[in-house]
Amino acid sequence: MTNADFERLVDTSDEWITTRTGIKERRIAKNGMTTSDMAVKACKNAMEMAGCSHDEIEALITGTVTPDYKLPSNSCVIQEKMGLPQAVGFDIAAACTGFVSGLSIAQAFVESGKYRKILVVGVEKLSSFTNYEDRSTCVLFGDAAGAAVVEPCETGAGVISTFLRSDGNYRPLLWSEIGGCKYPYVPGEDPSGRDKILMNGSDLFKVAVREMGNAAVKVIEDAGLTSSDIALFIPHQANIRIIKAMAKRLKMDMSKVVHNIDRYGNTSSASIPLALDEANRAGRIKPGDHIVMVAFGGGLIWGSALLKW
Ligand code: UT7
Repeated sequence: MTNADFERLVDTSDEWITTRTGIKERRIAKNGMTTSDMAVKACKNAMEMAGCSHDEIEALITGTVTPDYKLPSNSCVIQEKMGLPQAVGFDIAAACTGFVSGLSIAQAFVESGKYRKILVVGVEKLSSFTNYEDRSTCVLFGDAAGAAVVEPCETGAGVISTFLRSDGNYRPLLWSEIGGCKYPYVPGEDPSGRDKILMNGSDLFKVAVREMGNAAVKVIEDAGLTSSDIALFIPHQANIRIIKAMAKRLKMDMSKVVHNIDRYGNTSSASIPLALDEANRAGRIKPGDHIVMVAFGGGLIWGSALLKW
């Protein structure tokens, strides 16, 4: 969907969306395509790239807040569709921080020796939970999936440090009120959009700039590095203004920052693996490069990871 499509849908303009968010287009999954369908495609691509066979995967961790069903987890649905009977699958409901949370858990599993090969996927079909009558949110979101295979590597490489933090006091800044056990969805009753994504954008913006910057600094310092040692910065794609503010704080030239929000919008847990994959396929990453990923989302929950490629 382009900004022109939204001009026909709600009271908005290409000029407002572009200057306030940096978004030009977003991808919307076709009718009938589910979150698990998108995840399966991403997982297969990741396994092909990693040269990893189905029977080697021991665990599957899915970051999503838009699962196919309330029960079971999306990981179990993906597991069935991919045919991974030997693996364990479970989900993480960490919104836009889903992939970085999954990566952090996978790192711990691999380092402890518990599992050797783990699929981590960030996937969202946000179009199913977007209120297309609310101009303050509908222009922001898109659908996507991104996945990685996490496995042991030589000492001193791979996932060097991760950081995760949440603060539930911020829940009303980004949430979906109706549809859980507190306020069940009642058929025939108008939920007034409260079953869709609800956001206080400007308050969220301030916390995002502060905490994403802090999270980036934390993993860089924990690794004993400085921002000048970082070859590539891969932030969650919520708003180009947030991304630029973080780059400024880290004194990082925008040429080192991966951003594709113009083409995908905010794809929540999929945004970081999507950007990582694009940067990798474009040849922007060299062996030995230090990469910082920073995520931030509904919870609120935020976090970061530092990799040596
Ligand atoms: O992924 C999880 C993390 N997400 C984030 O961190 C998102 C953080 N927030 C943001 O990115 C920005 O706050 C938004 C892009 C959501 C909004 O931008 P803003 O500059 O903070 O705008 P605002 O909410 O302060 O609204 C400014 C004005 C309002 O009009 P008035 O009250 O000044 O007359 C809004 O009604 O813009 C209006 N507005 C729009 N106008 C045209 C809100 N949405 C639209 C729209 N088109 N789509």
